[in-house]
Amino acid sequence: MSTPERPNVKLRPEIVAVSAYKQGRAAPSDGFKLSSNENPFPPLPGVIEAVNAASAELNRYPNAGGLALRTRLAERHGVEVGQVHIGSGSVALLSQLISAAAGAGDEVVYAWRSFEAYPGLVTVTGARSVQVPNRADGGHDLPALAAAITDRTRVVIVCTPNNPTGTIVTADEFAAFMELVPSDLLVLLDEAYYEFVTRTDAVNGIPLIGRYPNLVVLRTFSKAYGLAALRIGYAIGPQEVLDAARSAAIPLSVTDPAQIAAIASLDNEEALLERVARIASRRDQLRDALIEQGWNVPDAQGNFVWLATGDETDAANDAFFDAGLTVRAFAGDGIRISVGEPESVEKLSEVAADIVRNLPNGHPGKRLG
Ligand SMILES: Cc1ncc(COP(=O)(O)O)c(C=O)c1O
Repeated sequence: MSTPERPNVKLRPEIVAVSAYKQGRAAPSDGFKLSSNENPFPPLPGVIEAVNAASAELNRYPNAGGLALRTRLAERHGVEVGQVHIGSGSVALLSQLISAAAGAGDEVVYAWRSFEAYPGLVTVTGARSVQVPNRADGGHDLPALAAAITDRTRVVIVCTPNNPTGTIVTADEFAAFMELVPSDLLVLLDEAYYEFVTRTDAVNGIPLIGRYPNLVVLRTFSKAYGLAALRIGYAIGPQEVLDAARSAAIPLSVTDPAQIAAIASLDNEEALLERVARIASRRDQLRDALIEQGWNVPDAQGNFVWLATGDETDAANDAFFDAGLTVRAFAGDGIRISVGEPESVEKLSEVAADIVRNLPNGHPGKRLG
C-alpha cells in the first residue's frame, strides 16, 4: 500500500500551523548544555533512594489526588490543601488553567518575549494570544498589559522572573497592576524561577493568594529543585479556580515517583537553599563579567542570562556552539544562557568576549559609548 503524500485527515488549521515545542539542543559530547535552564546539581540527597523505592510499584497507577504532597505544600506555604494543585510540570498547570478559562474567540494577554510555550498553549484552546512588548530593559510593561485587557480577555499571564530576559516584577508594580485588572479575570503569576530571586523588592505571589480572588501562582520542582526529568510543578490559588483546572487535567498524569521525589526534596530545603545561593552568586558573577565586556545584560534573577544579540543571534549562537556550549537562540532577537557548571561559566565568558571582539557588525546587546 502506498502512503499518500498529504494525508487527507481533517485537522484544525491553526494547530497544524503551530510548530511543536522545541527543546533546547543537546550538548556536544564534551560540552555543556545551557539551553534549557536546568539545574547543574544532581537531585538532592535522599531523592534517588526515595524514587528507587517507589519504582517497586511501577505496575500501579499513581495516587490521583496527590494528597501527601499537596498537604506538605499547603503546610509549607500556609494555605489550605484545596488551594494546592499539582501537575506534571508547571507547563501542564498552565495548560489546564488556560483551558479552564479561555476558549474559541477569547483572548489571553501576556508579555512578549516570554516563555516560548505560552503561544502554543493558547492556540490549542482556540483562544487568541495578545502579546504586549517588554520594556527596553526586558521587564514586563504592566500598565500596557493592563491596557490590553478587553471584554474578550479571559487570562493574563505575568512571568517573574521572566523567561528569557531574567527581569522581575516588583511587589509594588504587581499591586498597582492588580488594581487595574477586573477581579473576575484570571491572573496567572508564573514563578518558575522564584527560588533564584535575590532582589528584595520582587513580588512573591503566594502570600497574596488570600488578597486576590482571581490570582493563581505557579511554581515548579524542575528548576531550583532539580527534578526536571520527573515533571512536577504546583499551583496555589483559590480552590474553585483550581477545581476547574483539575477538571481540565489529563487524569493520572502526575506519577508517584515524581510526587515522592518532590516530598523528599522538600525534606532537604537546607541543601536546596545552599545550592540555589551558589547558582545565584555564579549568575551574578557571570552577569558582571559580561557587563564588563560591554554587553548590556538585563537584570538576571533566574538561573540564566539574556544577551540581546539581535541580527547577530545566529552568528553568536554558532560561536557558542563551536566552543561546546549549547545555548537557546531566538533568531533575530537574542540568546538565553543557563547558569551551569563552573567550568561552563568560564568558557562562556571567554566566548562572549570573543564575540564582542569579532562579530563583523557589532551587536545591539553591546553597551554603546
Ligand atoms: C517561565 C516558565 N514557566 C514554566 C516552565 C515549565 O516548567 P516545568 O513544566 O518543567 O515545570 C518553564 C520551563 O522552562 C518556564 O521557563
